[in-house]
Amino acid sequence: MNVLGLNDPKLGEVVVSEQELQSRISQLGKELEADYADRPPLLVGVLKGAFMFMTDLARAVGLPVELDFMAVASYGSATKTSGIVRMVKDLDLDISGRHVVVVEDIVDSGLTLSFLKRNLLSREPASLEVCALLVKEGLQKAKLDLKYVGFKIPPTFVVGYGLDVDEKYRNLPMICTYKA
Ligand code: IMP
Ligand code: MG
Repeated sequence: MNVLGLNDPKLGEVVVSEQELQSRISQLGKELEADYADRPPLLVGVLKGAFMFMTDLARAVGLPVELDFMAVASYGSATKTSGIVRMVKDLDLDISGRHVVVVEDIVDSGLTLSFLKRNLLSREPASLEVCALLVKEGLQKAKLDLKYVGFKIPPTFVVGYGLDVDEKYRNLPMICTYKA
């Protein structure tokens, strides 16, 4: 296939098209808008993977939201998490008493998200929910309580729309499989 003018043999099929992303994200925006109408939330984007989802989602929510970002890294190979997560960039804002929605790109084993939830809950937000664009089916060890999910996808490695392999492919407008 040919994406962005590249004929890249490592890219496989399209898992979620640009059109599907945009229409699902506008639905998620409407859901958040209804659920948070009386208490505009603080959206917390998890860098770098969620940067593109965050910008589209934020524009789809017709509320005066606030935005902040944090970055975590997990040790491991390019396509597998080790489960050891550390914070690389903390939030700028104080979240105590705030209604927080964590905006994540993808939940694979769920280890990154459990780390994040534990960390954020210790700061005593008024509420904490998760909005994950993608969830890989059947891999999460712990129960994660994902309130908002864009798409459930098969447990294969994917790239695009923020997701990378060694920092590449983040700017693809769709989600594709990647052949390691
Ligand atoms: P988890 O801790 O196993 O749930 O992995 C979560 C993190 O690993 C995500 O936030 C991504 O940064 C990365 N990740 C997991 N699966 C993929 C994938 O298929 N493509 C790109 N990055 C992934
Ligand atoms: Mg990554």
